Amino acid sequence: MPINTVSTQNTDLRIILNALYEPVLVLDFNRKILLLNRAAERLFGENLVGLDFVHAVRHPDILASIDKVLAGESRSEAVISLNTPTRATYRVSINRLDQTQSAGPGLAISFYDISLVLEAEQMRSDFVANVSHELRTPLTALTGGIETIKGVARDDPAARERFLEIMEREAARMNRLIDDLLSLSKIEFNAHIRPTETVDVKDLVEATIATLRNQIEGEHLEIVCSIPDTPCTIQGDADELTQVIYNLVENAIKYGKAGGVITVNVRKVEFSEVLLGPALVVEVEDQGEGIAPEHIPRLTERFYRVDSARSREKGGTGLGLAIVKHILNRHRSRLTITSELGKGSKFIVNIPVDDLDNPQ
Ligand SMILES: Nc1ncnc2c1ncn2[C@@H]1O[C@H](COP(=O)(O)OP(=O)(O)OP(=O)(O)O)[C@@H](O)[C@H]1O
Ligand SMILES: [Mg+2]
Repeated sequence: MPINTVSTQNTDLRIILNALYEPVLVLDFNRKILLLNRAAERLFGENLVGLDFVHAVRHPDILASIDKVLAGESRSEAVISLNTPTRATYRVSINRLDQTQSAGPGLAISFYDISLVLEAEQMRSDFVANVSHELRTPLTALTGGIETIKGVARDDPAARERFLEIMEREAARMNRLIDDLLSLSKIEFNAHIRPTETVDVKDLVEATIATLRNQIEGEHLEIVCSIPDTPCTIQGDADELTQVIYNLVENAIKYGKAGGVITVNVRKVEFSEVLLGPALVVEVEDQGEGIAPEHIPRLTERFYRVDSARSREKGGTGLGLAIVKHILNRHRSRLTITSELGKGSKFIVNIPVDDLDNPQ
């Protein structure tokens, strides 16, 4: 069936190919483009029919794979990255068409975008590498402690005591890391299930601040709260939202300035710029050292810390804000962060509310 000459069949074929999501091209045995679907036109441009395939894609790997099929192989593959219209990686499949004539259609080429698969693979392997690294640090301290107690500190009770304390701290850190990883995976598992409990955010904020009061006083910080008198009910998961508030206030304590003030505000707004509708806004503000603008977009990534040594020294796992972000996603809520170096940071949570006047 010579596609280029039988135009009605050619049109039918194009209608069918246009329904495919993947870009598809049909070439003759001289590498000339006979037909391409709309997805291929979007990727490579229009008016390519009749031209050599290199006018669509000039990439040595794909040209070499086409040559193999032209030389007689039934199929071949190539993996190529293209920069237009946006950077993407494709698995390109080149198939010889089942016909013997040397004129007319010779091979079909289809492009599968595998960028998301590659990205997911990369994220998975980065995650495993990060977790291993995070576990290795306390594990090294534990192994070192055991060796010291068995060796040089064997007959030195004071040194033994000191090393046991270090080991206890490191074991606790491993425990915290595993707890955080498990809660992250639980939140991800439930990501698409909307929470159904009715919770009063006002109560959650007050209860969380009460549990952190010792820590606040220990760091010589003052906490100032501005919370409405009326209930602030929303549909949510009480434990998860408590964790959000806890992690934000805990950060304000850890990274705030000794002697400074932490401010926690809860208010209802008719129209949130972030959610484009009525919302409950929870703000946690500190007067700490602040965060440089280049770090702000990355703070909610797992294990991302501005100063790793400092975070670890304070027993941090670097997962606190990642947990916050995942919980807020599940609640269709958003976290925004503003900060000024040397002045402090403000973490703002916008939670959607259907009707401000009628608690849910
Ligand atoms: N209020 C804040 N002021 C300055 N830096 C902050 C503040 N909150 C977070 N950060 C920075 O963001 C990083 C990530 O915070 P996150 O809460 O995710 O982890 P962490 O506090 O290091 O550990 P974890 O919360 O697991 O104990 C911190 O290491 C810190 O560098
Ligand atoms: Mg934290």
